[in-house]
Amino acid sequence: MTAPPDPDQALRTLDAELARGLSLFAEARTIEELELAEIGVLGRKAPFSGVQRSLGELSQEDRRPVGQRTNEVREALQSALGERRAALEVQRERSLLEADRIDVTLPGRRLRPGSLHPLTIVQYEICDIFTRMGYRVVEGPEVEDEWHNFDALNIPPDHPARTMMDTIYLDVPARPDLLLRTHTSPMQIRTMEAQPPPVFVVVPGRVYRNEEITAKNMPVFHQVEGLAVDEGITFADLKGTLQTFMRALLGPDREVRLTPSFFPFVEPGAQTEVSCFVCGGKGCRTCAGTGWLETGGSGMVHPHVLEAVGYDPERYSGFAFGLGYDRLAMIRFGIPDIRLLWESDARFLQQFQGLGASA
Ligand code: DAH
Repeated sequence: MTAPPDPDQALRTLDAELARGLSLFAEARTIEELELAEIGVLGRKAPFSGVQRSLGELSQEDRRPVGQRTNEVREALQSALGERRAALEVQRERSLLEADRIDVTLPGRRLRPGSLHPLTIVQYEICDIFTRMGYRVVEGPEVEDEWHNFDALNIPPDHPARTMMDTIYLDVPARPDLLLRTHTSPMQIRTMEAQPPPVFVVVPGRVYRNEEITAKNMPVFHQVEGLAVDEGITFADLKGTLQTFMRALLGPDREVRLTPSFFPFVEPGAQTEVSCFVCGGKGCRTCAGTGWLETGGSGMVHPHVLEAVGYDPERYSGFAFGLGYDRLAMIRFGIPDIRLLWESDARFLQQFQGLGASA
């Protein structure tokens, strides 16, 4: 049996705990510290709770004053606690706001909108024009096989383009026929293999050749291939289509000149030129005084090519063209060095902001 509690001792404990509690609450600098102080002063294991629990053991006579004092002390502690908590909450709010403060007088961060790459601008324009003429835009793989890149295009095995001098072959065991496409023409084959005539497609994309890097040449450049196959397509359709296209792209006064040339997959084949859009055809530095800019090749699809894809050359005819557009973009935008197209220099690219957004 423990001795009955001493009421005087209990009253002293209550006073001491009141003083201790008030000072701990006042000292708490954060809500967390205040919660710890609360547990220390009013928690189950605190001296105050001990007194509270012992009330029942006191005599009737002692219980009244001790009980009353217990209530007073509890109320005093709880109200001090509540006030301190409110004050700390205000303080916390204020410091959060302070940390979050935005100085609206500082200059804003400038947005730097992106821009289309000059090649993309020209590519979109080209595809737009052909789409309006009823062509479909398709894209093909940049890793090709010799069949699509050469054989089916009537390019014989001993053709010089097939040597390592021109062509970048892949080093894939068991697939010595894989290469980076040297032109977009293989997509003529892939398109015709996949569908019967009529065919009207353009194919923009990257092509690869083993070239030295200079201001004018890169081992990677861009072509757009065109292919039209149907019954009754003639050389006049080729010329009219190219002329309509060049005038839409480079100005209504442009002329197209087709001069005989050889490409194994067309017969007849033509070198394709457009009158210079810098000087209007009078002759200038850009066109080396000739008045004409070379843009690529074109011609009537060779019967061997139609046969290679299972089209009947007696019934169908077509034309094809291939056009390099790196140089067109350079002349059009006055870009002096082709390497600028590859350097991703923001100072260069920013100059095209806002151009060509329509596509
Ligand atoms: N593929 C040829 C090249 O890269 C360009 C070409 C010429 C494409 C004549 C054609 C064409 O479609 O008919 O050099």
